[in-house]
Amino acid sequence: YATKGLAIVSNRLPTIVEFEASTKAWSGKPGCGGLVSAMNPILERRGGTWVGWPGMINEDARGHESRLDELLDGLGQQAGYALESVMLNAEQVRDYYGGFANSVLWPLFHGFPNRCDFNPRYWKSYLKVNRRFAATLMDTLDEDQPVWVHDYHLLVVAEMLRSMGFEGRIGFFLHIPFPALENFIKLPWRAELMRALLAFDLVGFQSARDERNFLECVERLVPHASISRVASTSTVLLEGEAAQSVTVGVFPISIDFEDFETRARSPSVLQHLDALRRDFGATKMFLGVDRLDYTKGLVERFHAFELLLEEHPELCESVVLFQLVVPSRENVPEYQALKREVDRIVGRINGRFSSPSWQPIHYLYNTVSTEELTALYRFASVAVVTPLCDGMNLVAKEFCAAQVDESGVLVLSEFAGAADEFHRDALLVNPYDTVGCAQVLYRAVMMDRQERRERIQRLRARVQTHHVFRWANQFVESLHEPSTLLEVSD
Ligand code: UDP
Ligand code: G6P
Repeated sequence: YATKGLAIVSNRLPTIVEFEASTKAWSGKPGCGGLVSAMNPILERRGGTWVGWPGMINEDARGHESRLDELLDGLGQQAGYALESVMLNAEQVRDYYGGFANSVLWPLFHGFPNRCDFNPRYWKSYLKVNRRFAATLMDTLDEDQPVWVHDYHLLVVAEMLRSMGFEGRIGFFLHIPFPALENFIKLPWRAELMRALLAFDLVGFQSARDERNFLECVERLVPHASISRVASTSTVLLEGEAAQSVTVGVFPISIDFEDFETRARSPSVLQHLDALRRDFGATKMFLGVDRLDYTKGLVERFHAFELLLEEHPELCESVVLFQLVVPSRENVPEYQALKREVDRIVGRINGRFSSPSWQPIHYLYNTVSTEELTALYRFASVAVVTPLCDGMNLVAKEFCAAQVDESGVLVLSEFAGAADEFHRDALLVNPYDTVGCAQVLYRAVMMDRQERRERIQRLRARVQTHHVFRWANQFVESLHEPSTLLEVSD
């Protein structure tokens, strides 16, 4: 399988393609989010094929398909792997992507069932689009070539590939949490989804919590299934005509540590760092970096920061919260409402505490270059990573890798997957506990140099050894040969 390269499929390709109507030209910009950040270096290193959606609407591409293919070929050549596009029309972007993926599965799997819109039209579209992904894979894959499917957009792809006669191995990795039984059973299509998940040969999760939730759902919702466990590996056996076994494991995702570490010392990052030093001087920076998403705990974080300033007015003028918010899923109503709320709270807090020479919250609603982001990670005194629920959270790991001066403190939500690995050396918080969070923010910004150095050194060592290439190797080896599934929770 190594000679054919890796075949991966995810909803999003690493590049978002846009059509400029005035110049009639296509251009590509990098996609955002943890999945793209993690998978891109792996494909660049191993080669292979990435099948996914280039982030634009089919109707816009009509008549210009060959130029789009040229653009993707060029981007693929630059990156060292092939990009294979699955186009979506406006209705599918609305019902499959905005609808079932981001208004049903995303909120449900993160534990927000009240934010779900269980519209049956979304489910129909989801099935249709998953079938299109499967059909594209059938055209793309060599016979029996293993395929690695990513994330909640494509839960039923294996079942569809099997129905099309595909006989190779199919692995699945869920980048987001798997919900507790009491939430999963609220899904009207719970039986169909469980059956579809058990059509994969290997199902991987971010944390032991997700694996436990999944196995409980199997036990309660799938008749004729039995679960056996040897060391860290669980196997689900399905009895019946087509007896089948599914391997289940925990694979905490990571980042390309060396890449961040090297970049943090690069001339371009040093330039950005100089600019930050000029702008902020001795002001201590709390840093937040998140997509605009209700799972990220932005509102709760602002409240905690406000309380910190209330309780410790002596910190005014000498600290700042720099919050980078990356636009996300802007057509989904829940995200539009959150944008208004965040704007309002930031405005209120800044109005309340600012002086002519100081503003407590620096709020950017945009994407930044990797160099600018790395400079921020390096400059920040405290990274504030406080999601209400998160599969892993790569920002926490990127901050550690970029902290080459070994002086920053990581404040981390206990509900991020990263807390499993970092619980000893990050300062853990419950993001719902405003008072507790404000106290931890205070502790973080007041921590002495020795303790900061010891903590961040251990965090960095963890990310350096448990990097994304190790993660991918473990998954691919386990897909090829389940008995090699290693103990990954060390
Ligand atoms: N990120 C980005 N553009 C930006 C700022 C951040 O692509 O302008 C990246 C960031 O480096 C990280 C990812 O977005 O790799 C966020 O991943 P995380 O796992 O923290 O959360 P997710 O967005 O996947 O829920
Ligand atoms: C999370 C999901 C990814 C997704 C990313 C960005 O990381 O796990 O699958 O790609 O968010 O969201 P978007 O909707 O822009 O792809």
